[in-house]
Amino acid sequence: MRKTLRGLVPYKVTSEQDDVIRLDNNEAYTSLLSYLDFSELEQTLLNRYPAESTEALIEAYSKFSGFPVENVLAGNGSDECITLICQYALDPGDHVIVLEPDFSMYEKNARVMGAEVTTIQLNEDFTLPLDKIKAEIERLNPKLLLLSNPNNPTGRLYENEEIEALIGAMKQAGGLLILDEAYIDFAGESAFAKQVLDYENLLILRTASKALGMAALRLGFMIANDRIIEGITAVKPPYNVNTVSAQMGTQLLKKPELLDQFLIMQLAQIAELEEIMKEFAGRVPGAVLYPSSTNFYLVKMEGAQDLAEFLYERKIKIRYFGKGSFKAVRISAGTAEEHAKLKEALMNWSDK
Ligand SMILES: Cc1ncc(COP(=O)(O)O)c(C=O)c1O
Repeated sequence: MRKTLRGLVPYKVTSEQDDVIRLDNNEAYTSLLSYLDFSELEQTLLNRYPAESTEALIEAYSKFSGFPVENVLAGNGSDECITLICQYALDPGDHVIVLEPDFSMYEKNARVMGAEVTTIQLNEDFTLPLDKIKAEIERLNPKLLLLSNPNNPTGRLYENEEIEALIGAMKQAGGLLILDEAYIDFAGESAFAKQVLDYENLLILRTASKALGMAALRLGFMIANDRIIEGITAVKPPYNVNTVSAQMGTQLLKKPELLDQFLIMQLAQIAELEEIMKEFAGRVPGAVLYPSSTNFYLVKMEGAQDLAEFLYERKIKIRYFGKGSFKAVRISAGTAEEHAKLKEALMNWSDK
């Protein structure tokens, strides 16, 4: 293994029995599989590399999202998009800024490229320490600043003016700001979607894995101006999105009303989860429930690990965070039935 990669830990992927309630990965709790026309898949050119299918997918995503076709690239999940962005932008020794907490794949991919990663802690309430980030950008001239908005795992949506200020600071530094909007559908409209092409140094990341309920297909999208798209195309493997995923994704993206209904249904479940989490946090001395613009809630609390284990013994899987003194659990929205079981288990734990 390369010297620079020593200490790199694998992203923990766990498989589960069917009877486990999975509230740990911020996925949609159900999918639109039954709306797919499988007879169309019978036409799949199994012996051909995917080309037409990716084109059709990008066209469908363009119509669905409003981004011009020429400015969209598809990836094998936004995970692959993050890898491609790092390959495109980073030479060994280049500086990269990430926030803490935030999605861990930013740092990992930057490190794999041999970049120097500077991590900046968010404020106590998970707002952006704007002056500090700007000072670090000025000091380091980073090639990339990657952040999720809304943030995973905090759930917080940042102020538009703050993001705007960071795009400006990164422009001064000659670097790109990667705005990962994996959860933006739950938060409403993105203020940057309409203007992304007007920026020299902004790339928006989207995914079909969250509000669109297609995590299994691994479909992510990068949106940026022509110059950036051209550069990333140069490093991208030619057939990175498989035909079956592209076909299924295309079919669903062509049903915007259905996807809208799907989102509305999820928002109702998120509201239900919020009520449960409020009640729970109110019963745990010192617990802090953070406001969320996503499909999950984060609670900072003593006993977070014990709670995660207690729930897992009851076949409910949630995500535990325990870095240093920061102890928290993150719980994604589920079905009404799953919520009823979750609520019962949470109340039992808090009664202990
Ligand atoms: C902020 C953020 N970005 C990207 C991803 C990766 O999503 P994808 O399934 O598109 O690879 C996740 C997954 O949890 C995420 O939370």
